[in-house]
Amino acid sequence: MGDRETLRQAKLSSGLLDFEDLVRACRSYRRFRADEPLGRGFLLALVDIARKCASAANRQPLRYAIVDEPAAAAELFGGLRWAAALKEWSGPVEGERPSAYIVIFADGEPGNFTWCDCGIAAQTIALAATEAGAGLCMLASFDPKVVRAVVGEAADALTPLLVLALGVPAETSVLETAASGADLAYWRGPDDVHHVPKRALADVLVASGE
Ligand SMILES: Cc1cc2nc3c(=O)[nH]c(=O)nc-3n(C[C@H](O)[C@H](O)[C@H](O)COP(=O)(O)O)c2cc1C
Repeated sequence: MGDRETLRQAKLSSGLLDFEDLVRACRSYRRFRADEPLGRGFLLALVDIARKCASAANRQPLRYAIVDEPAAAAELFGGLRWAAALKEWSGPVEGERPSAYIVIFADGEPGNFTWCDCGIAAQTIALAATEAGAGLCMLASFDPKVVRAVVGEAADALTPLLVLALGVPAETSVLETAASGADLAYWRGPDDVHHVPKRALADVLVASGE
């Protein structure tokens, strides 16, 4: 049996195939159906799920702001930098912009593990959103002044870490396995499909014990 088949059998017998499909669908989406808002209840549910995640020493330093009011969302959009690798594209046009945002903050200055906590929370929100038919893009490239202006004095004692731009995806994104040493930059084809190369299993395993 080849390596691929062994891997497939292992996923099949452990019930991981459905979960892998979810992770595969859980891509960075940057174009959305702006006319399909997610609803405040759904956004609150995502934060309620995130607060149950693992946290170093269970310190739980993260705080969350939901930005879904149209004027505030438009202001926040102005402080975001989209897809550095897509040089010809300056971000989603009107009608394709995120309908809401969740901003993840650190309470005070981030500690040693705060970014790790943030990643765990962000990916959990991403998976939950994907499971429900929504999608998001995590953005660390943003103007903190704009974030502070939008969130107001509630953000005074907080440090913005990551902006999650959410909506119902209006684009297709596919994963590809990158050849060893190949360029890992994501790209968009003439058919408008977004392609994301990922390193092969053999290229990320450093010691498999075999
Ligand atoms: C911590 C972090 C910060 C990111 N910041 C940005 C960003 O500022 N702007 C953006 O367009 N995408 C951003 N992304 C999305 C990445 O570009 C994306 O994850 C990568 O291209 C791989 O695509 P995938 O998420 O579909 O696997 C960020 C992702 C992560 C995890």
